[in-house]
Amino acid sequence: MTTLAILTAAGSGTRLGRDLPKALVELGGFPLVLHAARRLAASRVVDAIVVTAPPGLAAAMSDVVTADAHVSCPVRVVDGGPTRQASVAAGLALARPEDDVVIVHDAARPLASPDLVRRVLDAVRAGHPAVVPGMPVTDTIKRVSPVPVGAVRTAPGPAVERVVETPDRATLRAVQTPQGFDRALLERAHAAGADRAVADNLAATDDAGLVEALGEPVHVVAGEESALKITTERDLAVARMLLEEPA
Ligand code: CTP
Ligand code: MG
Repeated sequence: MTTLAILTAAGSGTRLGRDLPKALVELGGFPLVLHAARRLAASRVVDAIVVTAPPGLAAAMSDVVTADAHVSCPVRVVDGGPTRQASVAAGLALARPEDDVVIVHDAARPLASPDLVRRVLDAVRAGHPAVVPGMPVTDTIKRVSPVPVGAVRTAPGPAVERVVETPDRATLRAVQTPQGFDRALLERAHAAGADRAVADNLAATDDAGLVEALGEPVHVVAGEESALKITTERDLAVARMLLEEPA
């Protein structure tokens, strides 16, 4: 019984807008993907890591992650796919026969702590086959739908959407990675959702979504602020601040 971590790093980082992929952008002197790999290894519950690389960058990614003394477990690198979902599927294809649990984590969340990795894994090993970290939300969240083109407008003004619903905030969670899965369930979920992996507008934005689509239960453990996702320069600035905070 071993645990494989798939570390997604094949995205281009369009919204960050640098001239290199987001996973290779540095935070405090080290690439995001290395921060994430070090913390996965430091959890001591991950036996091996598969990193998904952007097109043409498998060797560069490998140089960054496999040569680092703090990444103490074996690391392999695989070419990612056109969507995050496709990249995870490519990583999953490299699972070894002995891997019975798979953790999927984003290099875009470089500061997710070893404690969080352990919390997710402990919940999986305790019998929950799909586990995600979740944070309470502070904003009121509304579901909206587009206003049909040509709908009557009383006066010219800014573009609007129509509010459909306001879910009770106490029941909402903002979900993070690492997410943990029984390996057979994750494989079944990816196989069933494979048609969606071709394009961003169809693909699942997280792996738990594919499990939910099977009708299988997904459970939430407490997330953490440091597992924030780096999307923009502002997120990088926040991460830099977190990194400098005394432990
Ligand atoms: N990812 C991946 N393969 C893809 C797309 C994304 O492995 N084809 C990974 C990213 O490297 C990242 C995670 O999935 O670690 C979450 O994706 P996101 O934050 O959207 O990163 P990017 O796709 O790189 O950023 P952007 O959408 O701004 O281009
Ligand atoms: Mg993306």
